[in-house]
Amino acid sequence: MMAEDIVAHQSAVEQDRFPMSSKYFSHKGILFPKVNYSEENLSYVENEFQLLDDDIVTVTYPRSGTHWMVETLALIRRDGDPTWVRTADLSERSPWIEPSPGLRNALKYPPPRLLVTHLPVQLFPKSFLRSKAKVIYVARNPKDVVVSLYLLTKAIKIMEDPGTLEEYLETFLSGNVPYGSWFDHVKGWMKLKDRPNFFFITYEELKQDLRGCVERICHFLGKELTGQQIDSVVENASFQKMKDNKMTNGSLLPDSFMDQKKGQMLRKGICEDWKNHLTPKQEEHFNHVYREKMQDMNMAFPWD
Ligand code: A3P
Repeated sequence: MMAEDIVAHQSAVEQDRFPMSSKYFSHKGILFPKVNYSEENLSYVENEFQLLDDDIVTVTYPRSGTHWMVETLALIRRDGDPTWVRTADLSERSPWIEPSPGLRNALKYPPPRLLVTHLPVQLFPKSFLRSKAKVIYVARNPKDVVVSLYLLTKAIKIMEDPGTLEEYLETFLSGNVPYGSWFDHVKGWMKLKDRPNFFFITYEELKQDLRGCVERICHFLGKELTGQQIDSVVENASFQKMKDNKMTNGSLLPDSFMDQKKGQMLRKGICEDWKNHLTPKQEEHFNHVYREKMQDMNMAFPWD
């Protein structure tokens, strides 16, 4: 099947597949929601999707600062002018390549493209290895990830009910969640950290010094902006500006996808909010699993 056929076929079966007893299916050992995702599209993205040399791809584990990086890159692309981010939906400016609606947008996107994905490295387009496409990987303190993901999962209708935070913590630590284990995701992507077309940054660094990060990102992209243009990127990528921007804040997502009363895409936007949610016992357990799973990593993160 051609790419467009696969996407169209998937759209036709999307409604039939929902609701079912389990909202997820497993593809190569990784869970994905049945709505909007399919084996065919995931295989297509991995094996046939062509990354182009001028593509810029934001890669994250969910709730690690994806929207923030995507907004920042769109502002950089337009030299700090906020018109684009205020008038075009984020899903069109920077489509997700793995869900069917995103893949549709990616396939009709005239280059140079801004793309985004949560895929673990083993499912990322193989064409990356032959291209000069640039990847920006954003990681975040996994304790903040689990809290943010738990609260959002309650609102996303294509996701399983997460249960209590205590229950969800176990599910998260076992990797039995869409996009798989946080540990495997980060460790897998970090294997590419020395490639010249790979840029690693953390949510915590963005929070600490967004301007400095924008300068580093521009350097990586080979993009020269004036001081004023950088000021505008930083101003328009602030939490409040993004939260107020309906093209970015998720408020236009359909009711069938998200219950806006139960959660928010842009929630608090701070570091270490986990301290307000995890008990000391849960923290201790998390630290224990973290140490065990990350012991073979020879790099330090801001949250270590
Ligand atoms: P919280 O739930 O902790 O507030 P993603 O885009 O990967 O889904 O990540 C969402 C998280 O990033 C949310 O975290 C959201 O509030 C936060 N976020 C989004 N834009 C931000 C910004 N400009 N500044 C700080 N945090 C931001």
